[in-house]
Amino acid sequence: MNRNYNLDFLRVTESAALACARWVGKGDRNSADQAACDAMRKALNLLPMKATIVIGEGERDEAPMLFIGEEVGSGEGPVVQIAVDPLEGTNLCANGTPNAISVLAAVVEGEGHLMHAPDCYMDKLVVGQECVGVVDITLPPRVNIRLMAKALGKSVDELTIGVLDRPRHESLIQEVRSAGARVHLIPDGDLSVAIAALDPESGVDGLMGVGGAPEGVITAAAVQCCKGEMQAKLVFYKPEQRSRAEKMVLGDVDRVLHTEDLASGAVMFAATGITSGDLLKGVRYRREYAETDSIVMRAAGGSIRRIATKRPIDRCDEV
Ligand code: FBP
Repeated sequence: MNRNYNLDFLRVTESAALACARWVGKGDRNSADQAACDAMRKALNLLPMKATIVIGEGERDEAPMLFIGEEVGSGEGPVVQIAVDPLEGTNLCANGTPNAISVLAAVVEGEGHLMHAPDCYMDKLVVGQECVGVVDITLPPRVNIRLMAKALGKSVDELTIGVLDRPRHESLIQEVRSAGARVHLIPDGDLSVAIAALDPESGVDGLMGVGGAPEGVITAAAVQCCKGEMQAKLVFYKPEQRSRAEKMVLGDVDRVLHTEDLASGAVMFAATGITSGDLLKGVRYRREYAETDSIVMRAAGGSIRRIATKRPIDRCDEV
């Protein structure tokens, strides 16, 4: 794909982040989500491509914007598949707490693949480059922690694992701690923390536990760009989630999924911070400018760009 698309996608996540940043801390998750969706859709429709949303805000009947199967883009140009989360961490944005981001992954049809994940849960294990080939999601977490520490040249005590703060993770949290490692407990937003774990400078060494499956596919696109490793298993809490998965996912829905099953080939990834967190700084207002912090990556070229943008406040609505 033409490399310039990467910066186009950056504008898309920047626009969504700027639109919903107005709702940070206002306690209104729906208005924040709507603002992010509207801005992302408007920006996507300006791009010269025939794009389809493969992971979006939900099915057509329950999501008015950016639903799965919705066509976006100008209608001319390459055929592209896009996975979006205009506001990842709706509660984080509404509460003004860390790690809300706007995020997108994309691939040109024929150049790679993004799994069409059903709206169910996913058990995730995400590690950075130094731990590739070392971990195995079917092993107990305490064993993976020992293997990770060895690969990273750290003592177990120096290892930090991101885990969503959920009752379902009570025994995982206990196991990580009793293995001697530290838990970075997050109220929401396992996508930003998983991507932070790919960066050796972030202070987070890995992500473990069950979060959203759509977020998992977008995470895998970032993992593919950073040459890290992700292993995952779909988790079904309701029978209808399993039957939906059986229709959408090729092969055994209970198997271990590897990075390549979730996102492969020349995938691209863009994210912009809404509230400051482990991965990115949030939107900041300074006199007449709004400042954003983004990351843009391409698996094909291996580039990882960190981009700080200043936009005049009165022109934040422009793409
Ligand atoms: P939303 O942006 O849809 O609110 O998702 C936030 C999130 O915390 C994700 O980061 C995570 O994967 C998922 O929700 C976990 O789901 P649940 O809150 O149902 O445990």
